[in-house]
Amino acid sequence: MTELGEAAVTKLLSTFACNRNADVENFLKHPGKAIRFEQTDNARTYLILDADNGDILAYFSVSFKELVLEGAKISKNKVRQLDGISKHAERIRAFLIGQIGKNSAIADNPLSLASILDEIYAVVSEARALVGGRIIILECEDCQELIDLYKRHGFTLIDIEGNSGTLLRTMYTHVTEHRKV
Ligand SMILES: CC(C)(COP(=O)(O)OP(=O)(O)OC[C@H]1O[C@@H](n2cnc3c(N)ncnc32)[C@H](O)[C@@H]1OP(=O)(O)O)[C@@H](O)C(=O)NCCC(=O)NCCS
Repeated sequence: MTELGEAAVTKLLSTFACNRNADVENFLKHPGKAIRFEQTDNARTYLILDADNGDILAYFSVSFKELVLEGAKISKNKVRQLDGISKHAERIRAFLIGQIGKNSAIADNPLSLASILDEIYAVVSEARALVGGRIIILECEDCQELIDLYKRHGFTLIDIEGNSGTLLRTMYTHVTEHRKV
């Protein structure tokens, strides 16, 4: 944005569409949430562009958030694995995938969740090297197809007591599993 300027970036972002998820589309477009999050350092948004014509193929935004384990139906061993130290931990610092989406306005969009996640892991890996961090979380709609898709890509659903029927479900993966050696 520093190079292009806000007006040009806003114009570019307006070309993004996500016909499956209005929130994913609106975060980038109206009312410029991604730009506000960027300017206020609340999240970083990354655009994956077509190298040939500069079209936005996909985007993701990354930030961090505490994972609250209160009421989570997971074993003490798993809690220790998430926290790294204590099996009694109730809050875990996590990288957050705030948004992730492909541009549905692009016919035959060549990107897939796997390729977008590779880019996310590259960003998280740099942050992890500088400040630490063990897990990545995302919050997705309570939609079985979406949950199954993330499971196929190495995420685990956290079952939180009393949370069934809520709009968002939390899933996690370990950073180390994706670290390139
Ligand atoms: C998530 C995403 C990047 C995955 O891309 P991909 O690897 O190419 O996979 P596909 O787009 O083919 O989706 C695979 C399956 O995931 C499910 N799925 C994906 N997005 C979904 C959504 N928003 N709601 C419900 N199911 C969804 C569907 O079952 C889909 O299969 P289908 O095409 O037969 O219906 C892409 O589907 C996308 O941009 N979705 C919309 C944005 C979104 O929902 N982001 C997640 C927010 S947590």
